[in-house]
Amino acid sequence: MANPYYAADERRAGRVHDLFAGIAPRYDRINDLQSFGLHRLWKRRLVRLAALKPGDRALDLCCGTGDVAFALAAQGAEVTGLDFSEAMLEVAGRRSFKFQIPNSNASSSATPHFTTRLPQFLQGDALHTPFPDGHFDAVTISYGLRNLADCEAGLREMLRVARPGGRLLVLDFGLPDNRLWRALYLAYLRVAVPLFGLLFAGNASAYAYILESLKHYPAQRGVAAMLTRLGCRNVRIINLLGGVMGINYAEK
Ligand SMILES: C[S@@+](CC[C@H](N)C(=O)[O-])C[C@H]1O[C@@H](n2cnc3c(N)ncnc32)[C@H](O)[C@@H]1O
Repeated sequence: MANPYYAADERRAGRVHDLFAGIAPRYDRINDLQSFGLHRLWKRRLVRLAALKPGDRALDLCCGTGDVAFALAAQGAEVTGLDFSEAMLEVAGRRSFKFQIPNSNASSSATPHFTTRLPQFLQGDALHTPFPDGHFDAVTISYGLRNLADCEAGLREMLRVARPGGRLLVLDFGLPDNRLWRALYLAYLRVAVPLFGLLFAGNASAYAYILESLKHYPAQRGVAAMLTRLGCRNVRIINLLGGVMGINYAEK
């Protein structure tokens, strides 16, 4: 049966938008459950590879509830998180309060001082961002590229807004080379992940969508081939958990 959140035509973005509108308040908790907390380590790896210095500019596309944007900002970078879902951005906005750590060294004054620089969150389409060419030192996208109506157009936009020498980083579900491991992993996505969705978000289809979207996604090898075709340098694949997840690294 076709997944209600996947469409291979011009309705694709609208369906994805509906999906995240429905699961936003429970998104973070289910991420922890279905990955056994491992997504936090994978995102940390992505952030390390972004190699940001204080004052650098970074863009996190499809930022969702802000995990990667907050972690990039903790490096001292000036970070923008962009997403088209009001519901996901609302959660990111609420989390911003928690990430504000009052600076105990600051002299007492009526205005609180904060040690942590916060990302700026912006609503927009990852395929058509409002930023000038060559603006960012690093552009990241985690679990977002697979959801775009045109994945190569998403990479082109990342490349456009990165400065020459800037880093592009993509984290997403991958495809392991080992056939047995791949079969076990795909079975997990087919059976266990929708069950988590049903139990914790009351929506199995929203989580069955992960496998459906993966069927139409080129995964780590295909993304690396696209980045090479687009003229990127130092294109690398970092496989995580035997290729279950993949990070694509490239420089403009
Ligand atoms: C699976 S979530 C990933 C969220 C976050 N990056 C993370 O790793 O937890 C995918 C996000 O992509 C966003 N998204 C999908 N298509 C988009 C588009 N065309 N423009 C902007 N955001 C988009 C969704 O709203 C959703 O928040």
